[in-house]
Amino acid sequence: MAKVVLIVLDLTGAVWKIQLTMQGQEKQTNPYLNVPAVQSADGVSISNLCARREAPRREAPRREAPKSTDFEIEIGFGKGHFLLDRAEKNPQITFIGLETRRKWVGLVQQRAEKRKLSNVYVWLGDARSVLSRLDEDAVFQRMFIHFPDPWWKARHEKRMVITESLARDAARVLSDHAEVFIQTDVDFRSDEYKRVFASHELFESETRDGVIDQNPFGSRSLREKKCEEVGLPIYRLLYRRRQR
Ligand SMILES: C[S@@+](CC[C@H](N)C(=O)[O-])C[C@H]1O[C@@H](n2cnc3c(N)ncnc32)[C@H](O)[C@@H]1O
Repeated sequence: MAKVVLIVLDLTGAVWKIQLTMQGQEKQTNPYLNVPAVQSADGVSISNLCARREAPRREAPRREAPKSTDFEIEIGFGKGHFLLDRAEKNPQITFIGLETRRKWVGLVQQRAEKRKLSNVYVWLGDARSVLSRLDEDAVFQRMFIHFPDPWWKARHEKRMVITESLARDAARVLSDHAEVFIQTDVDFRSDEYKRVFASHELFESETRDGVIDQNPFGSRSLREKKCEEVGLPIYRLLYRRRQR
C-alpha cells in the first residue's frame, strides 16, 4: 500500500515538474510575452525590431537582422492583408509591422512563415511609443497607416495614432523623400490627419492637401477591401518627407 502511495506521489510530482517546465519554456520562447512594455523608456533599434524570435510553442529558424537598406513600416496592420501582399510582391524590401493586438501579431507571423516571407518582421507594441524610442533616424522609405481611427467617443481620443507627436517622430525616422500613405473611411478623421500632415513643415504633397483618389501601392488592407465591397468612401492621403 505504502509503495502505491509513493508511486502516486512520484507521478504527481513528475506531472507538476513537466507542467512547470512547459510554463517556463513557454515564457522563454513566446515572443509575444517578451516584448518591452508599451510605456517602456528603453531604446529600440532596427535590429531589435528585426530580431527573429521563435514562434510560440514551436521552433522557427533564427535569422540575422537584414542587411537591406530598404525598409518600410506599417502601423496597425491588423490581419496583415496589406503587409503580407506587399512583402510578397517586393522581396527586396524589409517590412516592419507594429500592432497593439497580440492576436494579430501571432497570426501575421504565422502567415508570413507559411508563405515563406523572410522579409516580414512583426512587433507587438504601441507604434507611438516604439517610433519615439527608435534609435535610428531616416531609416524608412515608406510608412503605411490604414484605417487607424479610434471610436469617436471622447474617452477613445487617447487612442489617436495620427497626432502631431507621431508626425514629428515620422519626420525623424523617415528618410528624405519617403512617403506616408494614410487611409480612412471617416471623413472628419481624414480632415484631422490632413491638418497634422499637410500643415507640417517637414512634409509636402503633390496634390491639394495630400488627397489622392486611388491606392497607388496595389496591395490592399482588409478594411479597404471591405469598404470597396460595400461602396463606402475611402479618404486617401499621401505625403512626402522633405529633404533634410
Ligand atoms: C481598424 S483596424 C485596421 C486594420 C488594418 N490596418 C486594416 O486596414 O484592415 C486598426 C488597427 O490598428 C491597431 N492599432 C491601433 N492603435 C495602434 C497603435 N498605437 N500602434 C499599433 N497598432 C495600433 C489596432 O489594433 C487594429 O488592428
